[in-house]
Amino acid sequence: MISTEKSPKALSVNQIYCMDCLELLSQLPDSCISLILTDPPYGISYQNHFTSREYPVLAGDSGIDYRRFARESFRVLKDNSHAYFFTRFDCYPYHYQCLQQAGFAVKNCMVIEKGNIGGIGDLKGTYANNAEWLIFCQKGRRAFNHTTLLQNRAKAGSQFHKGRKPSEKYKTRFNSCWFGTEYPKATYNSGWQKQHNIYHPTIKNVEFLSWILKISSDPLELVFDGFIGSGSTAVAAIQTGRNYLGSELNPRYYHTALQRIKEVTDHEAVQSPRQDHAENDP
Ligand SMILES: C[S@@+](CC[C@H](N)C(=O)[O-])C[C@H]1O[C@@H](n2cnc3c(N)ncnc32)[C@H](O)[C@@H]1O
Repeated sequence: MISTEKSPKALSVNQIYCMDCLELLSQLPDSCISLILTDPPYGISYQNHFTSREYPVLAGDSGIDYRRFARESFRVLKDNSHAYFFTRFDCYPYHYQCLQQAGFAVKNCMVIEKGNIGGIGDLKGTYANNAEWLIFCQKGRRAFNHTTLLQNRAKAGSQFHKGRKPSEKYKTRFNSCWFGTEYPKATYNSGWQKQHNIYHPTIKNVEFLSWILKISSDPLELVFDGFIGSGSTAVAAIQTGRNYLGSELNPRYYHTALQRIKEVTDHEAVQSPRQDHAENDP
């Protein structure tokens, strides 16, 4: 439970609300969130006409008040914590500027291979977008957790060059560009959506989100996604033992998210003993 003077009724953790993200943020007290991982609408009225399934333009896609969103995100995040914001190449300069002015140290922009190929406009005269961009910010400084994703290929203790330190079990440098078979993709393709009967035009891959949660938060910490869409971040949080809080404006996607959360919660409840996610020091 998060109690706040600004909120008429206390907000519960492990809940998503069918409401405006900025409204939810305004009800949160300062420094109550351990990690932000979110995927806001980009303000570009995106519609993919090259797919068998056409979606209406997303709610809020004509633009959100990104400057206010960045300020509120900074306020609710604890010191020494991480925040990740999906973006696109053409929104990146503005999003970068807003996040920096809000107080974040913008450390990097991850580029993650998509599971589907996207594109806008003239696909014969421009490059298709085959990657997602994810702005990585810090408030203060927090070190990455060790994870099995980032385990070194060489056995711990191997020494390749005389005088050099033997290799560690886990990588100590993390690439910002996630391409190839070593890494999960950022999105699902339409085949996956059809097979699972879960539809959202910009759905993200839960396995990918789970790695970000494992790298940048500890079990039971509170993860925030104010633009939760079909609920992917909540599903990743449940599967990795984190707490979550989020919002979604569109009632249809909100119900999709509730349904996915119920399925994964029921599934996790029958897993015994609970899977250990092997994310911290060996
Ligand atoms: C880019 S999508 C997120 C997709 C999500 N990552 C997933 O895997 O399903 C952004 C979502 O934010 C929702 N949205 C737009 N404006 C909003 C607002 N002001 N508050 C809350 N949700 C909003 C849209 O309906 C959309 O589902």
